[in-house]
Amino acid sequence: MSNKAEETLSKSTDSASLARAVERSAELEKEIDKDPSRFRMLTGDRPTGHLHLGHYFGTIKNRVEQQQRGIETWQLIADYQVITDRDGVGPLRERVLSLLTDYIAAGMNPESATIFTHSAVPALNQLMLPFLSLVTESELHRNPTVKAELDATDGRAMSGLLLTYPVHQAADILFCRANIVPVGQDQLPHLEQARVIANRFDRRYGRADKDKPVFRRPEALLSNASHVLGLDGEKMSKSRGNTIELRMSADETAKRLKRAKTDADRVITYDPVKRPEVSNLLLMASMACGESPEAIAEQIGDGGGGALKARVTEDLNTMLAPIRARRAELVENEDYLLEVLRKGNERANEVANETLSDVLTAMNMKYY
Ligand code: TRP
Repeated sequence: MSNKAEETLSKSTDSASLARAVERSAELEKEIDKDPSRFRMLTGDRPTGHLHLGHYFGTIKNRVEQQQRGIETWQLIADYQVITDRDGVGPLRERVLSLLTDYIAAGMNPESATIFTHSAVPALNQLMLPFLSLVTESELHRNPTVKAELDATDGRAMSGLLLTYPVHQAADILFCRANIVPVGQDQLPHLEQARVIANRFDRRYGRADKDKPVFRRPEALLSNASHVLGLDGEKMSKSRGNTIELRMSADETAKRLKRAKTDADRVITYDPVKRPEVSNLLLMASMACGESPEAIAEQIGDGGGGALKARVTEDLNTMLAPIRARRAELVENEDYLLEVLRKGNERANEVANETLSDVLTAMNMKYY
């Protein structure tokens, strides 16, 4: 999502519902510790570019850890969503494969994860039809994400797909009966929309067996990941050229970091409010090496921006080295990547067909 979209959204989740979501997420953490096998996690990304450290520290690392905890992982490459707010799809095949490569290189285990694309799962998309009948036009116009994303397109007309994409996203979550979706606060309205659709479907087409609703109710797992900024102290985003992408070489990383913004004070301290750029570099080093940002600042002392950059470069390159090595191997093996995707799509289709069959049964549309 764009910067502007996120700003509008974070203002829109009221503090009471946010507090509830935070509390519930903490409970979920405990339940996961007790029995991770009860959980199926779905996450999605639009294939619009290459993954960078903002994605990695903000969510990908967390997803990998959830998978390692024993949660079943479903990973959507949301290719149909690319056309919600832009005309063309761009070099989509390349981007889908790059995203898949980043996932696996970052540690997602493709043996147990189901990694799939929208476009390969017809039954998922077919859920849009009954789901659209369960939401109103004004409700969609009021949806904070839709509003925010429209604002961010700078004057573009609202397309039918942009207006209804929260419904499509609900289909992503509900078709596979995911019960947890790791999200940032800005994505809470999406989950609410998915739950509302599930409730309305079950109320309208409720089965005789009330204990067995057609859909599960997905819940948000709020991540406590720190958000790193770009190298200029602004939000990390491809369009600003302030990112470090997972696929970059160690040299490119060093070059980018040399250009990073710091300030005139040679004594390095961690003070995110007064010294956002310096603190951001400390935070990156901290996330990469595991020491606290304050401790790293102390070690650098009065070494200035140069010493700070040297330290961040080393820590990031050390952390990224194995990811990059795996990435380089994967890039050479497109057949393997396609096989992972084919298997993921096959599994997603099996589950989507089952869910659609249940939906059609509930709607009296099963004729034979
Ligand atoms: N909307 C998300 C994004 O812009 C991608 C996405 C699509 C998604 N479907 C999803 C995320 C379902 C979570 C759950 O990045």
